[in-house]
Amino acid sequence: MSNLRMATVLSLVVASHATVDYSQYVNVFMGTAKGGNRFPGVVAAPFAMTKLGPDVQNSTTDAYSGYLPIGNIWGFSMMHESGTGGAPKYGVVSQMPVVGQVSDPLADLSQPRLHVDEGGVGWYKSSLANGITVELTASEHAGLYSYTFPEATNESSSIVVDVSHVLPSFRGLGWEQHYSGGALKLLSESHYEGSGTYNNGWNLAPNWTIYFCGKFDQKTSSSRVFAQSNATNASYGQTAGTGRLGGVFTFNETKVTSRVGISFISTTKACHNLENEIPGETNPHSLIQDAQARWNQEVFNKIQMSSDTTEDLQLLYSSLYGMFLIPSNRTGENPAWSSGEPYYDDVFTLWDTHRCHTSLFQVVQPTAYEEFIRSLIDIWRHDGFMPDARSSNFNGRVQGGTNADNVLADAYVKGVRGAVDWEDGFSAMQTDAEVIPPLEIVDTKAPDASTKEGRGALPDWLQYGYITPRFTRAVSRAVEYSTNDFGLYQVAVGLGKTLEAATYLNRSRNWRNHWNPSATSGGHNGFMVPRKANGSFVSQNPEDCGGCYWGDAYYEDNTWIYSMNAIHDVTELKRRIGGDKRFVGRIDKLFELGIFDAGNEPGFTSPYLYNFVQGQQWRSVERGRNISTLYNSGESGLPGNSDAGAMESLLIWQMIGLWPMTGQSTFLVLAPVFEQMTIDLGDDKTLILSTSGGDRISAPYVQSLKVNGKQWDKSWVSWEDVFANGGNLDFVLGANKTEWSTGELPPSPASGEIQSVMH
Ligand SMILES: *[C@@H]1O[C@H](CO)[C@@H](O)[C@H](O)[C@H]1NC(C)=O
Ligand SMILES: *[C@@H]1O[C@H](CO)[C@@H](O)[C@H](O)[C@H]1NC(C)=O
Ligand SMILES: *[C@@H]1O[C@H](CO)[C@@H](O)[C@H](O)[C@H]1NC(C)=O
Ligand SMILES: *[C@@H]1O[C@H](CO)[C@@H](O)[C@H](O)[C@H]1NC(C)=O
Ligand SMILES: *[C@@H]1O[C@H](CO)[C@@H](O)[C@H](O)[C@H]1NC(C)=O
Ligand SMILES: *[C@@H]1O[C@H](CO)[C@@H](O)[C@H](O)[C@H]1NC(C)=O
Ligand SMILES: *[C@@H]1O[C@H](CO)[C@@H](O)[C@H](O)[C@H]1NC(C)=O
Ligand SMILES: *[C@@H]1O[C@H](CO)[C@@H](O)[C@H](O)[C@H]1NC(C)=O
Ligand SMILES: *[C@@H]1O[C@H](CO)[C@@H](O)[C@H](O)[C@H]1NC(C)=O
Ligand SMILES: *[C@@H]1O[C@H](CO)[C@@H](O)[C@H](O)[C@H]1NC(C)=O
Ligand SMILES: *[C@@H]1O[C@H](CO)[C@@H](O)[C@H](O)[C@H]1NC(C)=O
Repeated sequence: MSNLRMATVLSLVVASHATVDYSQYVNVFMGTAKGGNRFPGVVAAPFAMTKLGPDVQNSTTDAYSGYLPIGNIWGFSMMHESGTGGAPKYGVVSQMPVVGQVSDPLADLSQPRLHVDEGGVGWYKSSLANGITVELTASEHAGLYSYTFPEATNESSSIVVDVSHVLPSFRGLGWEQHYSGGALKLLSESHYEGSGTYNNGWNLAPNWTIYFCGKFDQKTSSSRVFAQSNATNASYGQTAGTGRLGGVFTFNETKVTSRVGISFISTTKACHNLENEIPGETNPHSLIQDAQARWNQEVFNKIQMSSDTTEDLQLLYSSLYGMFLIPSNRTGENPAWSSGEPYYDDVFTLWDTHRCHTSLFQVVQPTAYEEFIRSLIDIWRHDGFMPDARSSNFNGRVQGGTNADNVLADAYVKGVRGAVDWEDGFSAMQTDAEVIPPLEIVDTKAPDASTKEGRGALPDWLQYGYITPRFTRAVSRAVEYSTNDFGLYQVAVGLGKTLEAATYLNRSRNWRNHWNPSATSGGHNGFMVPRKANGSFVSQNPEDCGGCYWGDAYYEDNTWIYSMNAIHDVTELKRRIGGDKRFVGRIDKLFELGIFDAGNEPGFTSPYLYNFVQGQQWRSVERGRNISTLYNSGESGLPGNSDAGAMESLLIWQMIGLWPMTGQSTFLVLAPVFEQMTIDLGDDKTLILSTSGGDRISAPYVQSLKVNGKQWDKSWVSWEDVFANGGNLDFVLGANKTEWSTGELPPSPASGEIQSVMH
């Protein structure tokens, strides 16, 4: 720990890189309970394709990541998502150990746990009630299961490989996955290969196939393929129906290791991945060391802070870990097309991550981020649209706007170039803005338009400049389409596309067309409301959003929240709300009325918009500090669904003391939590944040700030100020609600005259 103290001295920061194992502070169970849905199993490197962990049975609760704290384990499978909602995806390429012979592999083989599961970066361990211990380690495309069966029983040891195993959903919304066929071939006494095909899930995906190649370190005393009677060609282990399929492998030994490689391409590639990454005799400890080294080097070393309390260290590094479990780097594993571009799947979803996750992704992992941007564009090249969400190589689903536009804009204005083809990037964005996505799959929850990709309500957006109630989620989509169009404007400006820039800047203001100045709630006037084709507003209570779901006017939040979300046009928003004082009161009301939900993304930026009023920055700090108290590094430590790490990224920005305005180069200034934080920006650039003035509880508020040594009176900094070439932010904090932020307000780029931004 003394190393961490020394890390506050800049000259020693580099030395500490090599010596501190930050992975020891990761609680892989952070956010795995109470709906956090994080995946606690083995992810051997950031974005690794294999995510090996337990699948827990619970007939009432969906196990989104496979894991649940309560319930029996019914298999250990190799693919999962992390921190998602909607409906579970994956939970495939599974095996389950059984004591003794297995007479009926179709029976319930699940087991309670002897005690709570254990795990760390690179490893996982479950102890089952029947005495079997399962230890898991992995590489990027393969997994290693180490089984210890009970000695005392004198029984043989069995492993059931269940090709038909896939995570179920109990919500009854039609989003459950189905097994739809597979193959299993025994090649020798210790080697099998095969594939499983599955469909549906939250993104309503068609059939997709994963291939596997499994090898045991022991010879079987017996092995067989099983298939339900309704499976076709069952005797050959090939099925085309939903009849279950698998293999039973029985051993005399009590210690058995099982190595499995997976691939989207072929069983040959699955075997190649296996032998390449986990050859026979691989020591699990070497896999653990490799995993910890990669996470340290690629993620944890990038952010260091001065605190040496265990809770602080656990919170920072467990949060960083949770940010990079998905998407999955599937470069070289794309069955749909081959190209020289990187390929990332398991985008779940940009609706969640574009607000503050992707901007931190860029800072912490610039190389992977550039690959991710290229992958989004390559998906457009081959599938026609960029995804808002994507899994099993299939776009779907779109909750609001086409938020890849915001992500690309954010990357563009912050200088992401490298091998990104920005002309294609802009074309991909223009597809979102101009091409109505075909309605190929009718979603019963929202039958009005495609939820697969693109902007389903585009016909109205183009015709009226707003969205009529003939489209579901009309208002929440409209405000997102506005920010999406603002994204197009940003990239068009950079590429010198003057005409397009003017068009999309204009369109980015269309949120205003939903603004009904006489809608009233909580003493405030003016809200975004549904609007009919003839121009009349639909009158309704702004606190009421119906079910706040797919078929309603607002998705997952009401118009109090959505009316604050034109973050590219805040000056106009303030004007409509009634000026500075009313604007401050309006943000306060989100909290007073209990509307603000720290666990839901649409409201993420609202608490910090006080920075758009001179002197009021302290209020943003107060809100942010309060939101931070809802987090801890424990299993219930997330105030909502992790949402692919979106929730964790919010906390890390709080620790840093900045808030990204997605799609812009602006960061709102909050107040860092630690005395010192050092962020390695790559290319020998560093951002160093320091605070003085007291402890974080008694001295939360900014008294004064220096940016790169210069006294600062603005409530914001730009990418250029502190990230592009590194920088220093030195805060004096204190107990006083000091009105220090008297300088120029943060930019509101859509609020000026169009001409003034065109030159
Ligand atoms: C399912 O999970 C819930 C919530 O954790 C728990 O109360 C319940 O006992 C679990 N049911 C089973 C069958 O394990
Ligand atoms: C297991 O087998 C050994 C040798 O065959 C025997 O001595 C022992 O009593 C058996 N134990 C149990 C629990 O059956
Ligand atoms: C397993 O044990 C049985 C009975 O002891 C024996 O006949 C068989 O050869 C053993 N099989 C293997 C693969 O060791
Ligand atoms: C069953 O599968 C085997 C092996 O692939 C194949 O040779 C055979 O023709 C199949 N039989 C039927 C009835 O499809
Ligand atoms: C998936 O493939 C099976 C055959 O294996 C076919 O019967 C089924 O209709 C397909 N389902 C989808 C959703 O494509
Ligand atoms: C196959 O049989 C199982 C159980 O016998 C049943 O649940 C399943 O629906 C059947 N599948 C088909 C395609 O008939
Ligand atoms: C993504 O995967 C490809 C293929 O394995 C690899 O070359 C590339 O370095 C990976 N990207 C990152 C950021 O690790
Ligand atoms: C902006 O939109 C308005 C109507 O919404 C239209 O009259 C005007 O021509 C547009 N301006 C540009 C530059 O696209
Ligand atoms: C618009 O249409 C609605 C019915 O859909 C009607 O009640 C309202 O009077 C109309 N408003 C105008 C201005 O024509
Ligand atoms: C912060 O949280 C405390 C306790 O939950 C509450 O009393 C206080 O009003 C909150 N303050 C702000 C500014 O949200
Ligand atoms: C805090 O503010 C109060 C009232 O404005 C003032 O009297 C006091 O000196 C301030 N304290 C510090 C440490 O600036």
